[in-house]
Amino acid sequence: MQAIEIKPGIYWVGAIDWSMRSFHGYSTNRGSSYNAYLILDDKVTLIDTVKAPFADDLVARIASVIDPAKIDYIVSNHVEPDHSGGLPIISRCCPNAKIITSSPQGLRGLTARYGNLPYQEVKTGEALSIGKRTLKFVATPMLHWPDSMVTYCPEEKILFSNDAFGQHLASNKRFDDENALPVVMEEAKKYYANILMLFGKQAQGALKALSALDIELIAVGHGILWRSHIPEILASYENWSKNERDDHAVIVFDTMWGSTERLADTIADSFTEKGIAVSFFDLRSNHISDVTTEVLTSKYLAVGSPTLNNQMMPSVACFLCYIKGLQPKGLQAFAFGSYGWGGQSVGLIEDELKAIGCEICLEKIRVANVPTRAQLATIRDQINSL
Ligand code: FEO
Repeated sequence: MQAIEIKPGIYWVGAIDWSMRSFHGYSTNRGSSYNAYLILDDKVTLIDTVKAPFADDLVARIASVIDPAKIDYIVSNHVEPDHSGGLPIISRCCPNAKIITSSPQGLRGLTARYGNLPYQEVKTGEALSIGKRTLKFVATPMLHWPDSMVTYCPEEKILFSNDAFGQHLASNKRFDDENALPVVMEEAKKYYANILMLFGKQAQGALKALSALDIELIAVGHGILWRSHIPEILASYENWSKNERDDHAVIVFDTMWGSTERLADTIADSFTEKGIAVSFFDLRSNHISDVTTEVLTSKYLAVGSPTLNNQMMPSVACFLCYIKGLQPKGLQAFAFGSYGWGGQSVGLIEDELKAIGCEICLEKIRVANVPTRAQLATIRDQINSL
């Protein structure tokens, strides 16, 4: 395990998790990385650690450039264990190191998880000299935990941004210009949608605070570092946090014997005829976190389910529960579905869409047994009139 020098005297010493396929329920089809950074200065400083099972990788990469015992500071930008899990092991390797954490939430969180270690609290705006470099701390509360902060080094123009601007993406290439940009942006969007969508206002606040900084490198906590496409990722965060939406429809459904799927097909055709792009997700073969990625930037959401035991299908309930937590803003939505008898699912979906805060833009589409040609023609007309 070797450290990778990203600037003179500054090393990536993180871990690549090639095999991870779920991050607390978010599908991570391309794995991830837990990025940590070592700065060699008068005071040797480690920025963040890694998920606990990868602590040996972290120690080995640090040891490839310096004895870990020489670390003076460990900056913990975020308490979540994918970044702090290596703290107990690394702090045993460097017992004299101070652990820098946000006040009071970082201190509270780290103490609860790891007991009394040599913590040093910092507040937003405080700075720490480590020799010829300075580290400035900017609190980013609820982006996405109360303790979250970022660390800026003005002499190097590096922002150590932790979760912000990151992606769950495993690669042996560290920089944006060494990887396929559409893939990196796709994973950054998926990350924002599934982790940060709920915190758009806080993201706006953070972007405002960071706009005063001269940034040449964003050293993220996950995935690929930004050095050549910083304006693109900042502009994307601006749009996502403001809930900017495209003329795009997300159609998501489950089906039992094909009738609800037939409705979904007709809805997709109708949007297409109207010139609106469509993302089509059958929940039997698509993950809710991929649907959520498209929900982030789409104007319309159509959710369908047949009735099963007086309810909607559990897969649809799962999706609605998931996006209810993420609180998408400014979505226009409607419900559709088929039934044999009873037929409660469509009303239940509409109730949930209202509870999520969606504007109901179309009367619910509710069809007994199998949709007739006349019913499908009505759907086309209704969507055309949107
Ligand atoms: Fe990557 Fe919120 O931890």
